[in-house]
Amino acid sequence: RAERLARAERMIRSIPDYPEPGVLFRDITPLLADAAALRTVVEAMIAPFEGRFDVVAGVEARGFLLAGAAAIAAGVGLVPIRKQGKLPRPAAAVSYDLEYGSATIEAHDDMPVGCRVLLLDDVLATGGTLRAAHELVDRLGARVVGTAVLMELEALGGRALVGDVHAVFRVS
Ligand code: PRP
Ligand code: MG
Repeated sequence: RAERLARAERMIRSIPDYPEPGVLFRDITPLLADAAALRTVVEAMIAPFEGRFDVVAGVEARGFLLAGAAAIAAGVGLVPIRKQGKLPRPAAAVSYDLEYGSATIEAHDDMPVGCRVLLLDDVLATGGTLRAAHELVDRLGARVVGTAVLMELEALGGRALVGDVHAVFRVS
């Protein structure tokens, strides 16, 4: 599997100066477009937690790209964590800071109390998003049993905020 993972990692495209000058954007869309790479990374995201979660929760928007695939691969359901105003009956909301301003995420309460949740997103950067998502799941009375991302941007130090995260790929 190491070879398949290495092949998938090479499909991540680095784009300089996007979305603003000085930022090196890691674009995972070429990887997503490749059937074998997509399957490999999704399986790698969930592998450490196999059999220990009842549902995956994916964070809008890019987390959704992986969460649906992960749910099918693991044979569990999917709870979407959405940006504010997108869900008709949010049961909880958590706000968090961004570089400029703040954002709010919301979720429905479609998990039984004590439900074991695997939290998924595409990228761990500063950690604000996943920390807020974790708090959101807590408020719904469910239990985060793991957090996984496709890619960790180590230089941004998000791990300090989020704690234990399984990252399939790490870039400095
Ligand atoms: C990006 C990315 C992660 C988050 C990571 O989402 O998809 O969710 O940033 O950053 P953090 O660790 O500093 O919180 P973004 O909010 O840009 O929007 P999108 O997923 O809707 O494209
Ligand atoms: Mg996102």
